Amino acid sequence: MTGERGIYHLLTIGQADFERLTGYMRQKYGINLSKKKVLIEGRLSNMITERGFADFHTYLNAVFADGSGQEITTLLNRLTTNHTYFMRESNHFDYFRDTVLPHIESTETARHARVWCAGCSTGEEPYTLQMILKDRFAGRLPAWNTQLLATDISERAMAIAKEGVYPVESVNNMPALWKMRYFEKMEKGMHVKEAVRRDVLFQPFNLMTAIFPFRQKFHVIFCRNVMIYFERDTKIALVNKFYQCLEKGGYLFIGHSESIERGATPFQYVMPAVYRRDE
Ligand SMILES: C[S@@+](CC[C@H](N)C(=O)[O-])C[C@H]1O[C@@H](n2cnc3c(N)ncnc32)[C@H](O)[C@@H]1O
Repeated sequence: MTGERGIYHLLTIGQADFERLTGYMRQKYGINLSKKKVLIEGRLSNMITERGFADFHTYLNAVFADGSGQEITTLLNRLTTNHTYFMRESNHFDYFRDTVLPHIESTETARHARVWCAGCSTGEEPYTLQMILKDRFAGRLPAWNTQLLATDISERAMAIAKEGVYPVESVNNMPALWKMRYFEKMEKGMHVKEAVRRDVLFQPFNLMTAIFPFRQKFHVIFCRNVMIYFERDTKIALVNKFYQCLEKGGYLFIGHSESIERGATPFQYVMPAVYRRDE
């Protein structure tokens, strides 16, 4: 059932274990890895060997028998794809600044801009959104609450996000003013300032959760490059749940390589990868 290939101790996952693992990931987290055998073997083999498991089969038995949830956390840290970077698909940030925030400002009487970054990975996207919010609302009197929610299932990615330290090169494409205003240079990289970090609330949250627990609706949801591995029905069900979580006239941003099928949800198309709930 298992075997080793080459000096990297690449293990082979047997078909039954592959189906057990991919079935679990799809059912519990929406992530379809049914064509990702090589990725699974590549991302898990070393860890399985280092931890002394003989093969995928023994390892998966331990994962599914572990009642503490720790093994699943480790598995998710390895199997999720957390690729992200500052200013990704930056025309969305321009639209957020130039169109969405003026809309919130003119309609939100409680002075609370509610933004949710779903699938925030290592934090570059929610921190960028918070910097834009700060540019507009910091120092206003009466004050605005701009604390935004950032969620993910990868605790490893969110630990990096909470620390908020990024390689110097990764902020190269950010405006010079932001680098001065919102970062401090440290030996290990550029550190997002406390004033920005404290207004981003990082929370573990699985988007497959049946009932979303939010007490208030959001003005904006960013869920970019998260649904790439989701199947059609999973994606449509999630987008419909986003709709219910948005204020009237609220906005949903998805990744540029993604789209929402016309007529499958009540969202209005605004521009590529931007959708809106009816006012
Ligand atoms: C490629 S990153 C996208 C990061 C950022 N939104 C961007 O566009 O650059 C996708 C993130 O979605 C998260 N993710 C995948 N499935 C999820 C789920 N069911 N619930 C919550 N987060 C999930 C992954 O852990 C990963 O960090």
